[in-house]
Amino acid sequence: MRKVKIRIKNLSKNFGDKVVLKNLNLDIYESESLAIIGESGTGKSVLTKCIDGLEDYDSGIISYENIDNIRNLNTQKKNEYLGKFGILFQNAALLDSLTVEENLKFCKKDNFKKILNDVALPESLLNEYPNNLSIGVQKRIGLARAILKSPEILILDEPTTGLDPIIGKQINSLIKKLVKEKKITTITVTHDMQSVYEFSDYTAFIKKGSISWYGKSNEIKKKGNKSLLNFINGLY
Ligand SMILES: Nc1ncnc2c1ncn2[C@@H]1O[C@H](COP(=O)(O)OP(=O)(O)OP(=O)(O)O)[C@@H](O)[C@H]1O
Ligand SMILES: [Mg+2]
Repeated sequence: MRKVKIRIKNLSKNFGDKVVLKNLNLDIYESESLAIIGESGTGKSVLTKCIDGLEDYDSGIISYENIDNIRNLNTQKKNEYLGKFGILFQNAALLDSLTVEENLKFCKKDNFKKILNDVALPESLLNEYPNNLSIGVQKRIGLARAILKSPEILILDEPTTGLDPIIGKQINSLIKKLVKEKKITTITVTHDMQSVYEFSDYTAFIKKGSISWYGKSNEIKKKGNKSLLNFINGLY
């Protein structure tokens, strides 16, 4: 039986005159992996930031288990809520002035050496600075940081974008292993259909600020609507 973990109802978000999300509805289920796809600038990253509480929204409801609407949480509760999430930001967002070890320690946990194993990186990297590392390695460290505190929800914003196909494939296999082994509820924003087919159980396609298609990832080709199929064909 699927269990709803996060329910999004009629979510709207504008920046000034610019409408980004418009009456968006989406349920996110526990222990499932969801891909969010759509054209650039359609609000995918903004949606994830609304979900984890980093961005406020104008109207609608985001409920999480017994929290009716995360918008109503006070600052302390909002921080506790944010603590449930492990986040890999679109640009990996490592702190350049800190070494890898310091970037990981920043999360105030002591199992960061083991976590490097999980993302297939050697301990010798701990004293390096992110600027000296390839983007693929930075993404893996970002991934390590995201899973470090055993989050309830993992948000991966473009985990393979900007990587060459071979490294992208490695990262996809790694995420697949992590997501399937640990059964973490995962939301992945991506333009990489390998990420969709390899480790995302369900897919939501955003168009013009709302969900234009939602369904099982392995049924996209058979059941996807016209704009979704056009979008996917345009990716290759
Ligand atoms: N803080 C902000 N202030 C003003 N506009 C913003 C802000 N953040 C995002 N936007 C705008 O909201 C729209 C959606 O942005 P978002 O980053 O969510 O797109 P996206 O779907 O993630 O695109 P991409 O695939 O390129 O990452 C864009 O037009 C963007 O310029
Ligand atoms: Mg984005």
